[in-house]
Amino acid sequence: MPRLALIATGGTIAGSGSQENYTAGVLGADVLLGAVAELRRLADWHVEQPFALDSRDMEPAHWLLLAARVQAMLDDPAIDGIVITHGTDTLEESAFALDLLLPAGKPVVLTAAMRPATSLSSDGPLNLLQAACVALHPAARERGVLVVANGLIIAAQQLRKTSTHAVEALQPQAGAAPLGQVIGEIVQLPPGQPPRSAPLQVQPGELPRVDILYAHAGATPDLIAACVAAGARGLVLALSGHGSIPQSWRPALAQARASSLQVVRATRISAGGVWPNCNEDDTANGWLAAGPLSPQQARVLLILALAGQAHPDPQPLSGLFARYHA
Ligand code: SIN
Repeated sequence: MPRLALIATGGTIAGSGSQENYTAGVLGADVLLGAVAELRRLADWHVEQPFALDSRDMEPAHWLLLAARVQAMLDDPAIDGIVITHGTDTLEESAFALDLLLPAGKPVVLTAAMRPATSLSSDGPLNLLQAACVALHPAARERGVLVVANGLIIAAQQLRKTSTHAVEALQPQAGAAPLGQVIGEIVQLPPGQPPRSAPLQVQPGELPRVDILYAHAGATPDLIAACVAAGARGLVLALSGHGSIPQSWRPALAQARASSLQVVRATRISAGGVWPNCNEDDTANGWLAAGPLSPQQARVLLILALAGQAHPDPQPLSGLFARYHA
């Protein structure tokens, strides 16, 4: 019998109440496991619950804690794969953080739900079962972190939450296809390329502050100075169009760069991304371009990269972002 680890972290999948009014993260890991009889038929389970959160309250320190628990499961020869339950709201960020922090190898599969466990037609039980099926599938090895929801298998980097309430909210980013699908317990996952890069090295400890500023008509530049004054080491700009910098922001951004703040151009548009030296001179200004990463994913990468820079083997920032420009 294979052995899987279930690491439960909260979310609507562990929520109690009706769809319009519920509390996330109140049901324990054993309750989730006990709700689906097939899970015990598929595998023996090691169960952990490092925290139980509505994922809106997830912090970068939780990514490191979670990565450490997953790493322990990867190192345990008795465990064949890892399933993590999580809220959908910041799943994009945690999935990407884990993908950056963990080595490829055994399957690591995140899942979630849009409807609380106690509501009618809850999607959590089937998502959990299908996540377990993927975690047991040989083609899920060496793929980096995967997300399984609503019958889709999605690479962590491509995950987007696309609806506030629809059951099919978790999708690959615009223009990308899912890696595979799950029909009942049948996993359709064609073999993939091995993941590209070694995991980022980040020591536990205080993580740098990185803020996201959202551009809009009439956006004033004073928030840039406020971020610097608050101790931010990085700023991700969720810009209009192809990463267009408002003219009124340029002097404040130049000042921020002069005080070593890292600036990433990203976009508030869901498709297309922001590419280096397109529409702006990133090289001259010392800015980074997010490529296909969403502003919140670019922030994850910048936090972890800046945290790694304090350590003996600094990871050059432009090279890290360039991984996503190919
Ligand atoms: C959460 O993200 O924890 C609540 C919302 C959800 O899981 O859909």
